[in-house]
Amino acid sequence: MMKSVLFGALALVALAGPVYAQDAAAGEKLFMRCKACHQIGPDAKNAIGPDLNGVVGRRAGTEEGYSYSAALKDSGLTWDEATLTKWLHGPKKLVAGTKMIFPGFQKDDDIKNVIAYLSQFNADGSKK
Ligand code: HEC
Repeated sequence: MMKSVLFGALALVALAGPVYAQDAAAGEKLFMRCKACHQIGPDAKNAIGPDLNGVVGRRAGTEEGYSYSAALKDSGLTWDEATLTKWLHGPKKLVAGTKMIFPGFQKDDDIKNVIAYLSQFNADGSKK
């Protein structure tokens, strides 16, 4: 009995690493839906939406040189994982008056994967 429980726990630990890498790879594909408006990576610039380098952990509405809606600028939010999850379910549900027009993901897994992808980038666009 003890042995099988222990084996189960070890198997889970062994899986944790590769699963994370897969999340980010899946997130990169999903980021296609953001690319019409957002750039990320070493050469990213503000476009229709702000550049998303280093966005995870950043205060909302603070990317230099980007002209945000007053609603997002004054939201007082910080883009931690929980807040980003709500945002990606439907931006207008979190911040009424935002100018990000995105219907939102239906699947929590899609959101997790996109956040895993975004998390890879430092503020200067290099990868962690
Ligand atoms: C149709 C254009 C469009 C699409 C598609 C889009 N966004 Fe946005 N996004 C915007 C705009 C415009 C803003 C600025 C919103 C404001 O000022 O109210 C924004 C803001 C954001 C912010 C807040 C950034 C900050 O500096 O506070 C995040 C995070 C974000 N978008 C993530 C995403 C992700 C991830 C996707 C893809 C799943 C996505 N967006 C798809 C246009 C878009």
